[in-house]
Order: sequence, then structure tokens, then C-alpha cells
Amino acid sequence: MGIDSFSKIYYERPNVVQEIFHNHHWIWPEEEMIFKRYETHICGKRVLDIGCGGGRIIPALKALAQDYIGIDYSVRMIKACKEKFESLKFIHCDASDMTIFNDQSFDFVLFTFNGIDCMSHEKRIKTLKEINRILKYDGIFVFSSHNLDDRRHVTAYNIFDINVFNNIQNILSYLKVRKHQIRTETYAILSDPLAGYGHLTYFIRKPDQVIQLKQSDFSDVEILNCKCRFTEIASLERDSKWFWYICKKQK
Ligand SMILES: C[S@@+](CC[C@H](N)C(=O)[O-])C[C@H]1O[C@@H](n2cnc3c(N)ncnc32)[C@H](O)[C@@H]1O
Repeated sequence: MGIDSFSKIYYERPNVVQEIFHNHHWIWPEEEMIFKRYETHICGKRVLDIGCGGGRIIPALKALAQDYIGIDYSVRMIKACKEKFESLKFIHCDASDMTIFNDQSFDFVLFTFNGIDCMSHEKRIKTLKEINRILKYDGIFVFSSHNLDDRRHVTAYNIFDINVFNNIQNILSYLKVRKHQIRTETYAILSDPLAGYGHLTYFIRKPDQVIQLKQSDFSDVEILNCKCRFTEIASLERDSKWFWYICKKQK
């Protein structure tokens, strides 16, 4: 077992599907800002929503996009979306193998709410290359990813819940995933204190994420922090849980 198997099982759990499907209806100000800024890449264009989950961003997107497709590797998420948004297209598909799509098929591709952080490093790199392949030249890819410099992810390990039962549950969840954690020079896969410790999450620093994107033939990388501000690649940010990355498929 590693992060890939843990995540796959997690997103098929009926309670997780229920939670994501019924409670996630908002969009973040950062997403609103990105949609406005890149309106010309979305309006009347082909949009792919990778890891569409419960379709949280569909209401905001479908008013703009001419052709929306949502994919997810969770059978249950896809089933729930098909029932809720009958007129839209959803496909059960793993982002690391999108051979169902031709090269240069989409103008705008999203992988929101840190969906890309559910993967092993090898699968993440393969997925970035697949996304680049299916994007049109000058097409835009937007995703968010956890910040390895975030102070909360470090300090949360030392904070005990006032509810003793929660502490016991957190410790048991941590013990289940502990041996699958990975720490390298450039990224880490860790038990996530912000997700009840039983979930493994990929964390990376901005400069290393930008290198990954450049190596997958993306350019013009812009980064937004959790305060809805554009941020420099090299600046140290300890108070942003994750970042939104916006990049272009280079010619
Ligand atoms: C945190 S949820 C986000 C859902 C939705 N995008 C949102 O913003 O609310 C992550 C989603 O990504 C999906 N996912 C994770 N890895 C995937 C992969 N390799 N291929 C397709 N979907 C994936 C999960 O099944 C889950 O539905």
C-alpha cells in the first residue's frame, strides 16, 4: 500500500462521496479570480475538469464553457455527477492515462482542490505530461497543491485535540499510514494532520513545483497564495496551506 492505493480507496468510500457531493458547493475567491482572468480561455471553449469529485466548480464553469467534460477515477463520484448534472459529460478515467483524449484537445484544464496531491511522485509526473499532451498550444492548466513550507502542517503534529476520543482516533489513523510517508529533498508525502492524519498528502515547495512544470513543457507559471495574491516563486510563505498554479502549454 502507498499513497495511490490509500487515495483510491478513500475516494470510493460512500461517506467521502456523500461529504464531497453534498457539502462542497462554494468556489474559492482565488478560483473566481482565475476564471475571470482567463475568461477568454474558457468562454465558448473546451474545458476538462480532472478529479471533478462532486462537481463543486461546475456551476461556475458551465455558464462559460461551451464544452465541459469531467473525469474522475472514482466510480462513485462519476455516478453521482451523472445523476446530478444530466446534460453534462462525465467519464471514469485516471488522469495519469488519458489516452481516451487526442493530443491538443482542450483549451483549459483544471485539477482543483489539491486532487493532484493524492498521487505518488511518479504518477504526478506522468499526469503532468498527460495534461500537457491533451492541452492545445497556449492552453491553460490550473491546479492547487499543498505547500511544504506551511507552518500549520508542521505545528499541527504537536497540537492535541481537546476531545480525547479524537486524539485516539488521530493516533490510530497516523499509525496506519506512518510507514508509507516519504521525505525527499524536493517533496514529501506525509500523514495529513489537516485531514485527520489517515490521509497521505503530497507537499511541495513553490520552486520545486515550478521545476516539475517546466520539465513537463509548461511555461508562464503564475502562483496565487491562499490570500488571493500573486506570489513570487522564491518567496518563503509559511501561512498558505496550498498554492494555485496557473501555467501555459508552451509552443
Ligand atoms: C479533493 S477532491 C476534489 C474534488 C473537486 N475537484 C473539487 O474541487 O471539489 C479530489 C478528487 O480528485 C479525484 N482524483 C484523485 N486522483 C485522481 C486521478 N489520478 N485521476 C482522476 N481523478 C482523481 C478524486 O477521486 C477526488 O474526486
